[in-house]
Amino acid sequence: MIELPSTLLAGKTAFVTGGGSGINLGIAQAFARAGANVAICGRTKEKLDAAAETLRALGARVSTAVADVRDLAQLEAAFATCKEALGPVDIVVCGAAGNFVAPAEGISSNGFASVLNIDLLGSFHTAKAGFEQLKATRGALLFVSAGQAYLPYAFQAHVGAAKAGVENLMRNLALEWARHGIRSNSVVPGPIAGTEGMRRLSVGENADAFKSMVPLGRFGTVDDIGRMATVLCSEWSSFVTGAQVIVDGGFGLAGSGVFNAAIAGAVRAAAKPKVE
Ligand code: COA
Repeated sequence: MIELPSTLLAGKTAFVTGGGSGINLGIAQAFARAGANVAICGRTKEKLDAAAETLRALGARVSTAVADVRDLAQLEAAFATCKEALGPVDIVVCGAAGNFVAPAEGISSNGFASVLNIDLLGSFHTAKAGFEQLKATRGALLFVSAGQAYLPYAFQAHVGAAKAGVENLMRNLALEWARHGIRSNSVVPGPIAGTEGMRRLSVGENADAFKSMVPLGRFGTVDDIGRMATVLCSEWSSFVTGAQVIVDGGFGLAGSGVFNAAIAGAVRAAAKPKVE
């Protein structure tokens, strides 16, 4: 694998929500490998501390803050902590997300709202809390989206609604904040091995069915997403804004039909209204 230049993000400060694990940690690590200093926030201090060690091992200066993206004040405090430790942010990643698999009729009002509040409202909070710093640096915003944003996936009504909103928010901010030199884009991961999202969607035999649905014949890696995130947030993409960049090995090209059939079978076999 050819590495990106280790100076691509030299001198930059990045802030990543949900950066304690999974794809978001992969993005934070890719930023660190490209020379950035990184702030990560999330709900669990232990996860953040462990993630911070991996980032320091890559040579980054690191700041951590416990924050729930559903709470704007907590995010504002996290951005203040980051600025004090690492200087104003050049890159903000709205990565924190929530998911569970459930038929639409089995999702309570609170369940639907929980995912919207984490994914959509949380992304808005992150962009809003980071705005003044991004404006000062003429920085880059990146949203971590999902295929559910543009294709309906069975048992993902709440996630699809939230991520479609995230995509629209991304484009809106690209338009509105261009006058401040702020770019806004999204990366759309396909099935990425070893992530919490994949664990939640890999119900029963669906896990094996998944791989055969990827035209490029493999699951993605967090590094596949990290590299694209790095490029999108670097000077290499200085004229790219409002773009939805799909990194899924072609998974979305086939539509969601095969996936839906597989997951529907597995969920019905489980015969429970709620499936973790
Ligand atoms: N099926 C149906 N409803 C479910 C559910 C499931 N599998 N899991 C949770 N819910 C509902 C709960 O019943 C609750 O609704 P209720 O009050 O009407 O009963 C509501 O969702 C909130 O659940 P709770 O666990 O209190 O929410 P939370 O705010 O602590 O967690 C979630 C939010 C539900 C999104 C949780 O899955 C989460 O924290 N996820 C973060 C990690 C993650 O999902 N990573 C993958 C990212 S792709």
